[in-house]
Amino acid sequence: MRYLRGVHSLWCKLFLILCLSISTVWATEPSPARQSELRNLLKNDCGACHGLTLQGGMGPSLLPDSLIEKPDELLVTTILEGRKGTAMPPWQPFMTREEAAWLVAILRKGKN
Ligand code: HEC
Repeated sequence: MRYLRGVHSLWCKLFLILCLSISTVWATEPSPARQSELRNLLKNDCGACHGLTLQGGMGPSLLPDSLIEKPDELLVTTILEGRKGTAMPPWQPFMTREEAAWLVAILRKGKN
């Protein structure tokens, strides 16, 4: 019986570790409700300059092929801080760095 109890607490610990690691993975991804807000923002606000299908307009194309050679860091920083001297505004007041990174990830997939 003693042996069994030891096994039991080991499984408890493993289970806890599993839960903790899952919650940190989830933390980097916006909640489903927030994801749909961000997708709306992309379509309505970003789309106003980057084109309705993000193929480019007043701002450059944000389609996967156009982003292929641009590092995440550059794109995330551009979204958060905008580009001085251009029409690209800073979005920092409206989203976190994790959310901007999530937007870049969905832009790269091209399924917005
Ligand atoms: C008022 C117009 C405008 C809006 C709104 C706008 N952008 Fe931009 N964006 C631009 C312009 C213009 C540039 C190009 C800046 C330059 O010349 O470097 C740009 C550049 C970018 C770049 C860098 C692209 C590259 O090829 O280097 C990204 C990424 C980007 N915008 C994402 C977004 C996202 C995401 C949104 C919405 C949250 C958004 N933009 C909203 C005008 C806009």
